[in-house]
Amino acid sequence: MDMNEYAIGIDLGGTAIKYAVVSRSGEIPFEGSLPTPATEGADAVIAALATAVKACREWAEASAITPIGVGIGTPGIVSPDKRRVLGGAENIAGWENVSLADALEKLCGMRVAASNDANAMAVGEWMFGAARGVSDALFITVGTGIGSAALINGHMWRGHEGRGMEVGHITVKCDGEECNCGGRGCLEHYASTAALVRRYKTLSGREADGREIVRLYHDADPVATQAMSEHWMYLGHGIASVINVFAPERVVVGGGISEAGDFYFERLRRVVGVQVMEVCAAGTSIVPAELGNRAGCLGAAALILFPEKI
Ligand code: BGC
Repeated sequence: MDMNEYAIGIDLGGTAIKYAVVSRSGEIPFEGSLPTPATEGADAVIAALATAVKACREWAEASAITPIGVGIGTPGIVSPDKRRVLGGAENIAGWENVSLADALEKLCGMRVAASNDANAMAVGEWMFGAARGVSDALFITVGTGIGSAALINGHMWRGHEGRGMEVGHITVKCDGEECNCGGRGCLEHYASTAALVRRYKTLSGREADGREIVRLYHDADPVATQAMSEHWMYLGHGIASVINVFAPERVVVGGGISEAGDFYFERLRRVVGVQVMEVCAAGTSIVPAELGNRAGCLGAAALILFPEKI
C-alpha cells in the first residue's frame, strides 16, 4: 500500500465548500475553502466544486503530487453507486436528482465519488479521530443543517438503498413549525446553527452568527442564554432519542458550534442525561469531534483512498 498516495477531499456545506489534498495516512498538506453558492442552483454549485478541485490540482502539480481522484461529502441522500444526489438537501437550491459525479468528472477529467456529508465526517472521525477503535458509534453534525451517520458493528449503516440516517429530520415537536424538508417540528429546524441564529434574531431583533451568540452567552446576555438553552434542549432530546434506539458506545458531535468548548458538552450531556433511558445510555459517552472541519474532507477523500470503509 502506497502511503504517499493522495486524493482530493471536498466537504460541501450549506455555507462553505471546504477542500483538501489528503494522503493515505490522513495528512493534509493543502486545504482551503470558498463560499457555497447555495441559492444559485446546481450548475453554480458544480462549477464551485470544479474551482475547488482546480485549486487542489494546482497545488499538487507544483508539489509533484498526482491525486488519484476526488471524493465529495454532500448534504442529502446519495445513490448507492456514489454518483448521484437523489434529494434531501433542501439547504442547497436545486440539489436534487443531480448527476454529481458525471458532471464533475466531465469538468475535471478525474474520477469522482460522492457520499452524504455526515457519513464522510463519520468515516474521518472513525479512521483518524474521536471514534478510532470503536465499532458502534453515532455521529451528529450541527451546522446549517443537522446530519448524522451510524457505525454499527464496524460498518457504516444508512438504511435501505442508503436512504436513511436523517436524524436531523426526526420529530422533536409534533405540532412544530415547518422544516425545509416539508415535515414539521424536525430536530434540524430547532437545533441547527441556522435555527439558533434565527431564534436569536426573533427574540432580540438583532443579527448575530453562532460564534457571536456563544460569546454573548458567556457575557450572560439574557437573549443569548435563552437561545442557547433552547438549542441544548432540542439537541439533547434528539440525541437522547437516538441513544435509546442505537445504544452506541460513543456519540460524536461535530460542526462549528461543537468547538465552542467544554461548557457546550456539559450542558448537552445534562439534557441528554435527564431524558435518555439510563439503561440504554449506560455504556455511552458523548464527545466532541476531534478533527473539526477537517473530518469531512478526510472522510470524503476516503471514498477514493479507502472505498471499502464508506
Ligand atoms: C440533510 C442531510 C445532511 C445535513 C448536513 C440536512 O439538511 O438532510 O442529508 O447530512 O443537512 O448537511
